[in-house]
Amino acid sequence: MATPLKVCVTGAAGQIAYSLLYQIGHGDVFGKEQPLILTLLDITPMMNALHGVVMELHDCAMTLVKEIVPTDSEEEAFRDIDVAFLVGSMPRREGMLRKDLLTANAKIFRSQGLSLDKFAKKTVKVRERCAVLSLTMVGVHRVFFASYSHIIFVMS
Ligand SMILES: NC(=O)c1ccc[n+]([C@@H]2O[C@H](COP(=O)([O-])OP(=O)(O)OC[C@H]3O[C@@H](n4cnc5c(N)ncnc54)[C@H](O)[C@@H]3O)[C@@H](O)[C@H]2O)c1
Repeated sequence: MATPLKVCVTGAAGQIAYSLLYQIGHGDVFGKEQPLILTLLDITPMMNALHGVVMELHDCAMTLVKEIVPTDSEEEAFRDIDVAFLVGSMPRREGMLRKDLLTANAKIFRSQGLSLDKFAKKTVKVRERCAVLSLTMVGVHRVFFASYSHIIFVMS
C-alpha cells in the first residue's frame, strides 16, 4: 500500500470542512488507493466540537484514513504535511466592514503561512489565500499554490 499522504484541513470544526473531510476521507480527492493521515486544525474554543467531528469520522470507518489528529496547534497541524486546505477563518459579523474582516483574516493567514513555511514539507500543496501565504512562505516552492479564484502561482 502507498505511503499515507498527510493532509491538513483548517477550520475543521466548521461547515465547509464538515463536508470536505468526508470527500477527502472517501478517496474522492486523492484517489481510492491513497491512504491518508488527517490533521484537523481549529481554534482552542472549538476543540470540543472538533472532537465531535473526529468521533463522526471514526464512525464512518473510512478505510483510507489511518490516523486523525485534532489540534489547536499550527505546529502539530502542519508538521510534515503534504497538502493543506486552509478553510478556517473569521466569519463576517453583523456591522463588520469588509476591510476589518480582511485585516483579521490576513493576520490568521500570515501566521499560518509562517507556520507552513517552518513545519510543512517544502513540497506542500496549499489551497486558499495565496496572496498572503505566498508572501510569508518563502521556503516553499510556490509552484504548488492554488486559490479558490483559480490563480495558480508558477514562480519557483
Ligand atoms: N459556508 C459557505 O457557504 C461559505 C461561502 C463562501 C465563503 N465562505 C468562507 O469560507 C470560510 C469557512 O466557511 P465555513 O462556512 O466553514 O465557516 P464556519 O464559521 O462554519 O467555520 C470556520 C471555522 O474556522 C475556524 N477558525 C477561525 N479561526 C481559525 C484559525 N486561526 N485557525 C483555524 N481555524 C480557525 C472557526 O473556529 C470555525 O470552526 C469562512 O471564511 C467563510 O466566510 C463560506
